[in-house]
Amino acid sequence: MHIDNGSINKNPFPHPLIQHQLPLVPKMRHDIEYYKKQGLYFYLETTEEMLPNSHVRVSGHGNMIMLGGYSYLGLIGHPQINAAAQAAIDRFGTGTHGVRLLAGSLTLHNELEARIAAFKQAEAAITFSSGYVTNVATISSLLRKGDTVICDKLNHASIVDGCLLAMADFVRFRHNDMVHFEKRLQEVAGNGRKLVIVDGVFSMDGDIINLPEVSRLCRQYDAYLMVDEAHSLGVLGETGHGIEEHFGLPADTVDIKMGTLSKTIPAAGGYIAGSQELITFLKHEARAFIFSAAVPPPSAAAAKAAFDVIEAEPERIQALQTNFTRFANRLRAAGFDLLQTETAIVPVICKSTAAAVRLAKYCQDKGIFVQAVVSPVVPVGQERLRACVSASHTLTDIDYCANVIIAGGCKLGIL
Ligand SMILES: Cc1ncc(COP(=O)(O)O)c(C=O)c1O
Repeated sequence: MHIDNGSINKNPFPHPLIQHQLPLVPKMRHDIEYYKKQGLYFYLETTEEMLPNSHVRVSGHGNMIMLGGYSYLGLIGHPQINAAAQAAIDRFGTGTHGVRLLAGSLTLHNELEARIAAFKQAEAAITFSSGYVTNVATISSLLRKGDTVICDKLNHASIVDGCLLAMADFVRFRHNDMVHFEKRLQEVAGNGRKLVIVDGVFSMDGDIINLPEVSRLCRQYDAYLMVDEAHSLGVLGETGHGIEEHFGLPADTVDIKMGTLSKTIPAAGGYIAGSQELITFLKHEARAFIFSAAVPPPSAAAAKAAFDVIEAEPERIQALQTNFTRFANRLRAAGFDLLQTETAIVPVICKSTAAAVRLAKYCQDKGIFVQAVVSPVVPVGQERLRACVSASHTLTDIDYCANVIIAGGCKLGIL
């Protein structure tokens, strides 16, 4: 599938005075044109309208069942959340015209941060303009030369990028392997600080970090612990409060509680919740807080309202679990490998790029909006269809999606 098309990156308009100008754009890993010609390219498709029950109207494809989004509790379009966003626009407008430290701090930001801190049972919280920058800014500003950061191998790219930007030593342990994790802790040399970072739910595999053991080892080896709850907030725990609730661990188990406002929470932004000392530090030292604009008013208001809705409507968490169990049981019974997923993220392993993109196309042609995820995002041999279940899918849609994926798997020789 990797076709070397040497002509596509040549500069068509070379500068007349520069004889051997190198191309501005480096060679891409995938031959996009090849996939487009084969009709296998389904990225950047345009949604024209969000419809009820996790349906979307997609330009050129019509009404589709959304099985690729992160609206885990189906909160997008919730009337209370929409009303909060609209009221924020009426009061503050659509932007802040500034960074938080100078002119961009609104009462809404303070209220949202207090709401997040209460929800995650922390002393304080800070918000950033995205989950990605939250990780990059927090990790790179906290760590110094001589410190060590220890990560699960499958941590999200934003954590990896934060670690690469930091001046600390960067080591990784095999995914959710506690023996290897302890070995890594033992290998740390010097007297610097140790920071362990893990995803709560892993974004590509859907499995849950072994938090009881990770936190026990952190205490034993004097390491601080940061957990990214992008995919566990609103999903894990009987009332959706996340990973500590899931394992019945105390609220102070995690030193740095990170999450996004773009998945279960239908807005944009990211947060860190933790001690007052940590939050004061980040508000004055994290470069993406100092030098980048605040979360816009409608997003801040929507996010704040969404935390209220999660607590007021716990039946959504139960519905998500019911939908996941039904969907995963059907696919596993048919013979699909779904790795160790226990959450809304369902990796349907296809074992090759060709099989993954063909199964995705089969589903897309039958009205399911779902994507193939291939190497290097996932390891070679674990190329997959990545399906995300929502509380707002109907059981009829869940069954339909399972039936189509199973029929496609049989037709394409994956099963
Ligand atoms: C585990 C994890 N952390 C962080 C992020 C970044 O969040 P955002 O999309 O809000 O920037 C993502 C996004 O997919 C994620 O999966």
